[in-house]
Amino acid sequence: MKINIKRISKSNIESLDFDNIPFGKAFSDHMFVADYKDGEWQNFEIMPYSRMSMSPATMVFHYGQAIFEGMKASIDAEGNPLMFRVDEHAERINISAIRMGMPAFPKDVFKEAIRSLLCLDKDWIPKNEGSALYLRPFMIATDEYIGVKPSETYKLIIFTCPVGPYYTEPVKLITAEKYIRASKGGVGFAKAAGNYAGTLQPMKEAKAKGYDQIMWMSEDFKYIQECGTMNLFFIINGKVITPSTKDGTILKGITRDSFIQILKNKGYEVEERLLSIDEVVEASKNGTLEDVFGAGTAAVVAPVSEIRYKDLDIIIPPTDTRSISIMLKKELNGIRNGSIKDPFGWIEMIDKQEVASLEA
Ligand SMILES: Cc1ncc(COP(=O)(O)O)c(C=O)c1O
Repeated sequence: MKINIKRISKSNIESLDFDNIPFGKAFSDHMFVADYKDGEWQNFEIMPYSRMSMSPATMVFHYGQAIFEGMKASIDAEGNPLMFRVDEHAERINISAIRMGMPAFPKDVFKEAIRSLLCLDKDWIPKNEGSALYLRPFMIATDEYIGVKPSETYKLIIFTCPVGPYYTEPVKLITAEKYIRASKGGVGFAKAAGNYAGTLQPMKEAKAKGYDQIMWMSEDFKYIQECGTMNLFFIINGKVITPSTKDGTILKGITRDSFIQILKNKGYEVEERLLSIDEVVEASKNGTLEDVFGAGTAAVVAPVSEIRYKDLDIIIPPTDTRSISIMLKKELNGIRNGSIKDPFGWIEMIDKQEVASLEA
């Protein structure tokens, strides 16, 4: 496998204020592009981040064969780039691809592309606490054809953007009562673009009522699924509970899995099961609802301050009392930036020699 590299002639890094990074609006110098045609992935190339031109008949614009990943890289105190659970992201993009009738992408090229991007754009990895380099791999259908069928050609692109914290305040959730995000047999477990498109109008309505996110529910509106960009955890009477991913309606979050492993490693029991809104209401009424938080790559831990359910405001205890989620955030951020030893094998470091071999 050979990745052809075309370097940018002049870096754009001076345009970025590292103390004030807007989420998802600043893009680093290089991107990786690969093409799928004649039944195989080929033309592996890293090039300057740039716009693309496409025919209006390109299939992705019509039938939505589009999937993506979201992951983060950081830098340790010695200046070595660190990749977090890159194998799991490589596997998940392929789970999404297969569900959407798209070709799997070779894991070794995926990893190599990310390593090379991090070497070339090392200086774009923010060092401030709570900041990271967000990596956005995505795959789209590229046949110029307007009949409904799986495309025969695709592009996989990876670009990166330095990001600061996603939420600066605790989030307010509203329970879905009218719309659903995913149902059994659907594509809820895939990171498919259409899953997000379908939530945008409901999100607008939620925002208009003063809420940050919708808490998505099962088809009968009884059981809790997840939020638009995060899995959810509840602490009730000292027990950690998170909705099960077994029925395929929820994205199997890598942060969710990391928290489960950290908790189990520290001796906590974690229940992955159906969790009804009635159980949460009951726990709130009897004073055993101790914490609710979202878990996702972008936000890491997003404390929830309240949940609206029908006419009820479920108020979650103050964030400074929430020892478990405070611990999880500290552990995961520490493992990610290399300040806490990683006992799980999640971090892959890129050493100075490798960086020097590619640095512009
Ligand atoms: C719908 C949805 N659920 C959960 C998550 C959290 O997943 P992860 O922890 O892998 O970022 C995300 C974010 O990627 C998401 O978009």
